[in-house]
Amino acid sequence: MNLTPLLNALQAGTDQPRDLLLAFVEGVANGSVDHETATSWLKAVHQHGCTRSDTVLLTEAMRASGAILTWPEGPPVVDKHSTGGVGDKMSLMLAPALAACGLRVPMLAGRGLGHTGGTIDKLEAIPGFNCQLTPEAMMEAVANVGCCIAVQNDAIAPTDGVLYALRDVTDTIDSLPLITASIVSKKAAEGLDALVLDVKVGEAAFMKTLDDARALAVSMVEAATGLGIKTEAQITDMNAPIGTHVGNALEVIESIEVMQGRGSADTRELVVLQGTALLTMTMEIRAEEAEQRMRTVLNNGAALDVFQAMCVQQGVEPSVAAALVADPQSVLGQAPHQTTILATETGHVGSFQTMAMAQFARSHGAGRFHLDDAIDPLVGFVLHRTMGSPVTKNDPVLTFHHTRPLDDDETSTLVQFVSVGSPSTTPPTRLVERIQSSLTKP
Ligand code: URA
Repeated sequence: MNLTPLLNALQAGTDQPRDLLLAFVEGVANGSVDHETATSWLKAVHQHGCTRSDTVLLTEAMRASGAILTWPEGPPVVDKHSTGGVGDKMSLMLAPALAACGLRVPMLAGRGLGHTGGTIDKLEAIPGFNCQLTPEAMMEAVANVGCCIAVQNDAIAPTDGVLYALRDVTDTIDSLPLITASIVSKKAAEGLDALVLDVKVGEAAFMKTLDDARALAVSMVEAATGLGIKTEAQITDMNAPIGTHVGNALEVIESIEVMQGRGSADTRELVVLQGTALLTMTMEIRAEEAEQRMRTVLNNGAALDVFQAMCVQQGVEPSVAAALVADPQSVLGQAPHQTTILATETGHVGSFQTMAMAQFARSHGAGRFHLDDAIDPLVGFVLHRTMGSPVTKNDPVLTFHHTRPLDDDETSTLVQFVSVGSPSTTPPTRLVERIQSSLTKP
């Protein structure tokens, strides 16, 4: 394929010839475009960016390169994407909670990326949980229990599979149009009516500045809206770990606690925020009513019932699923070592070294450094105090769960992960900014 017209347009900042761009995307998926040719196009997009209309066209073409779920008449179909955080276990609660509110949620999720955990790794901490669902199995699961959570696979947006792998080895990952098309094409292939995008910003996010987070949010909202999906991006703070638990099995435990009507307020508020946006975009209800419905299903056991049914639908033995939702640790187990850090002074929790904590847990097996690394599901942190909470000298502030014993250096590193100071004048909040598409109900 002669890419010159595409490369020239990219260099000139104009729209690429439509038919050629569509043929290129199809050729990447079916293998008729070789990797060298695809790489020269990726490098040109990475260097020059591309027009907004080309970003939408690229997203649409990538969606069309594989299966697109089509739904029978019924409740709205919705999903969420997060750009990745530390302790970000929202999907585990959001999918069942929205299903309990009557929506359909065919969620595609990924494994951990860099220092951030992945929904699939968390679910695979549950014995028997099968995330490898075909598009048909996803549709059957949604018909039976209202939601499913499946790993991204070659049937959906296969062009992205090829391009993503090439981007990884050609230093072309950090490109706004490429990230946008990659994320939105997969979500759009689920046949969605509405999508919420959680764009993380802060020390432990991929986007460190509000300007960068906003640019990504706007680009993704435009692309998803361009494909007819009502979309809201929520830019949320990622400076402190979310909730109380970080680590694969530990985050399943916290999620179940929240669906038992207890658990972390920080986590619950973020799930409610995301669910409220999706309910108001798709149902004829006001935000207050949507928020109330989310709180009700988290508190009255309805979301937990759907979670249990989803586990069984996705391969977990019914008796194991029942034990899991009653007493998660009895099923998931516990790491052989726990090291607890005590407050060195009296005051208020001022900050967490969130990125360093995530990397520390990753080095103990909570995440991967190579594609085929095995995850240790039991490794992670439990926070006994969250940002801003008062603490007395010698109170436990966090416990690290680990399988390999710590050396002396690691023990002194752990102590530095939390700082105690004077109370902050502004209470910590997660939501920084919302960006809504014109298709969103006012
Ligand atoms: N996640 C994706 O799926 N694609 C990207 O490009 C970045 C994050």
